[in-house]
Amino acid sequence: MNSEVSAAQSYQRTMWRTARETAGFLWLALDPRRNQPQRIYDLLSAHNNLGERSVYLNLGYWKRARDYDGACQDMAELLGERAGLGALDRVLDAGCGFGEQDAYWMRRFSPVKISAVNIAESQLAMARGRNGHPHIEYVHGSATALPFASGAYDKVLALESAFHFQTREDFFKEAFRVLRPGGTLALADVVPITVGTVGGRLRQRLVEYLGRGIWQTPNANLYGRDEYVRKLERAGFADVDVEDISEHVFQPFKAYAQRRVHDAEVRERVHPWLRAVYAAPHQGFRRTEYLIITAQKPAALG
Ligand SMILES: C[S@@+](CC[C@H](N)C(=O)[O-])C[C@H]1O[C@@H](n2cnc3c(N)ncnc32)[C@H](O)[C@@H]1O
Repeated sequence: MNSEVSAAQSYQRTMWRTARETAGFLWLALDPRRNQPQRIYDLLSAHNNLGERSVYLNLGYWKRARDYDGACQDMAELLGERAGLGALDRVLDAGCGFGEQDAYWMRRFSPVKISAVNIAESQLAMARGRNGHPHIEYVHGSATALPFASGAYDKVLALESAFHFQTREDFFKEAFRVLRPGGTLALADVVPITVGTVGGRLRQRLVEYLGRGIWQTPNANLYGRDEYVRKLERAGFADVDVEDISEHVFQPFKAYAQRRVHDAEVRERVHPWLRAVYAAPHQGFRRTEYLIITAQKPAALG
């Protein structure tokens, strides 16, 4: 009898959660402001992801990895390598999610400290519990108004978060300010392919519009890689390097997600609309590329 009651209660809780998330997704999809990324991450919480052992929230780097957790960690490894992380570094992580990559970077590269910034307090609360470390500080704040002194960091990293920032260009200016001369900015970012993709079928454009709402991507961030490089240079950065890793991200992520949504555990916890998006046969990322970008703050200014 008791187990029947608790099964009924748990069913009711799941239904309420699904209804609340449905209303939240609709609200975000249709909200034209696109300036509240914390709302989507509060909604997703820790249960709406594909991880088996981790709570990473990126698309993963699938060159070797066979599952989502491994692919996300490999993405963190790739970005850490490209940033040249090392034991003497003071690191700022902008858009830290649940802090999975911060704990990984600490284990792997042993930097002096990591300041991990996030606009979503709900994620920070979990990050502190799950990925707490004496040399990692989790800080509530925005990547576009960093609560840190000028020149305080050797490396600034943003792992699949800069497309959210209001605006990404304001973040470039802030990253430049908090880096010491000679410091490095490294980003893993999703960027529109602008050449030859103007227009598109109405259905595709509608899906993209709603997707940008749900992911709270400001229109001001919708530019391609050339403009990306120009904006970095305008912020003062030099030696900008762009690496296209799309082939190791989008298609393998999609193939994995299509299988993973059928696992009973995912069916239970992930919202049905997200599962439908993961399971859909279309690629969904046709007009975007996945880039690893590094840029240097010149050692001697002027
Ligand atoms: C796609 S998630 C990536 C999380 C993490 N880097 C990972 O790979 O698991 C994007 C993250 O950026 C954060 N974010 C979005 N806008 C932000 C802002 N303006 N300032 C700081 N963090 C922000 C979100 O709250 C979320 O944690």
